[in-house]
Amino acid sequence: MMNRLNLVTGRKCSSKRFVITYSVILAFLVFVYTTQINVIQEIEAVYYGKLIPSYASYLDNHNHRMHYGSNNGRTLSELMSDKDASPEFSHLANVTLNRRGLSNYYLHGSGKRDDYYKSNIAFIHLHKAGGSTTKMHLNKVCKRTGFASILMAHYGTTKVYDRFLKGDGVTSKQTVFVGGYTFGICDVLQGRPCSYMTVLRDPYDRIISAYFFCYAQNPPLCGPVRAKNVSITAWAIHQGSHFFNLLLTDKDTCRDREVHYDEYVKPYQERTKDIINYVPGLHPQSCWFRQKAILKERVTSEQRHAMLIYILDHLEYWLGVIGLVEDYQASLKMFREAYHLPFKTNSTVVVNKGRVRDKTEDARKKQMRMELLNSKEVREALYEDIMIYEKAKQIFKLQKEEFSRLKDQEANFSKPAD
Ligand SMILES: *[C@@H]1O[C@H](CO)[C@@H](O)[C@H](O)[C@H]1NC(C)=O
Ligand SMILES: *[C@@H]1O[C@H](CO)[C@@H](O)[C@H](O)[C@H]1NC(C)=O
Ligand SMILES: *[C@@H]1O[C@H](CO)[C@@H](O)[C@H](O)[C@H]1NC(C)=O
Ligand SMILES: *[C@@H]1O[C@H](CO)[C@@H](O)[C@H](O)[C@H]1NC(C)=O
Repeated sequence: MMNRLNLVTGRKCSSKRFVITYSVILAFLVFVYTTQINVIQEIEAVYYGKLIPSYASYLDNHNHRMHYGSNNGRTLSELMSDKDASPEFSHLANVTLNRRGLSNYYLHGSGKRDDYYKSNIAFIHLHKAGGSTTKMHLNKVCKRTGFASILMAHYGTTKVYDRFLKGDGVTSKQTVFVGGYTFGICDVLQGRPCSYMTVLRDPYDRIISAYFFCYAQNPPLCGPVRAKNVSITAWAIHQGSHFFNLLLTDKDTCRDREVHYDEYVKPYQERTKDIINYVPGLHPQSCWFRQKAILKERVTSEQRHAMLIYILDHLEYWLGVIGLVEDYQASLKMFREAYHLPFKTNSTVVVNKGRVRDKTEDARKKQMRMELLNSKEVREALYEDIMIYEKAKQIFKLQKEEFSRLKDQEANFSKPAD
């Protein structure tokens, strides 16, 4: 009776099927960040010194050009009520302006720590960014604590929303929502605080990892494109700023997911004359692709930029804790502290046992990274995610500082008084 079944998929909270499937990323990460990063940085310094001296100056240049932080651009709410705006944009802007959820635990959580301990938690799963490992940690946490777990993947996302919209919006117990489409669930949940957490990764590394992943297999997250059939640059343009996309998902975007491929991917291809050749019938239900199509066709670049600015300004209010693949152990510790949940942080990342490291593949990855960095189209496609990642790194640093301060304080308190 008191079962812990997943409402949507009927699977138990403790499902572990992804452990093996995605362990590959982690092995790659460990390898890249221990043995490769210096080489890559050196190569970049030599080859790209003139093109992209660093993210920081890249961002500076763009900031000037795009007036980030200046008064020149219209705000999101101004643009929302512009009579020339498409209904899709106005809707998305309104959704974005009305997001709910707890602010960042470390930056804005003081005085209301208890809210985090009793909240529902939605993990925004950015694929190929340590997401599956995090999901594994969360599932273990669920098992230890008796939390419920609900998956919000390609199918079922709309059903999850409808379930809470039709009812009173209250989860019967503290619940962890996981998947690529969780952002927005806090808008409809009632009765408990609700908090988002995520793990981000350098956008270039993530794109390459996704390319290899989709080269080997073809789940819906790859969208209607065969990685095998396109270059790494085309792939990056296809995926684009995926996290930006995920932060703009709306509960109704994929309500009509039964619609056949021909009813939107094909006309989309024809209208946009996209250089990428979409494959008929291949994952037309990829919700993110539909979102991308809406952004491309119904949102102007000024509107898109206003949404980005709004997101950058609100990351610290939308996300309870931000983790980074590049500092994963610290991320886990901060999740544990913020939500008072038993994340085990002393284990090293999942070690990939099934795969032999291959020098040729690593050389290819290095080469791909150079191709990506060299392409103006790729830089434009990843622009929003690069900006978000840079902002996330700043927030992460502040989180860590506050985390150490809290730990010091704790140590002082527990010190026996002499
Ligand atoms: C914006 O969204 C809110 C719900 O968050 C809704 O009540 C309101 O009517 C919407 N406004 C417009 C102009 O669509
Ligand atoms: C992609 O694959 C299709 C077959 O599925 C083939 O006809 C087409 O030529 C390929 N395109 C490229 C650019 O390789
Ligand atoms: C690490 O985790 C194991 C169980 O997985 C535990 O037995 C051990 O005490 C832990 N070590 C530390 C230093 O926390
Ligand atoms: C902990 O105590 C030391 C002195 O014992 C003090 O310098 C430090 O500021 C305290 N830290 C916090 C966070 O209270």
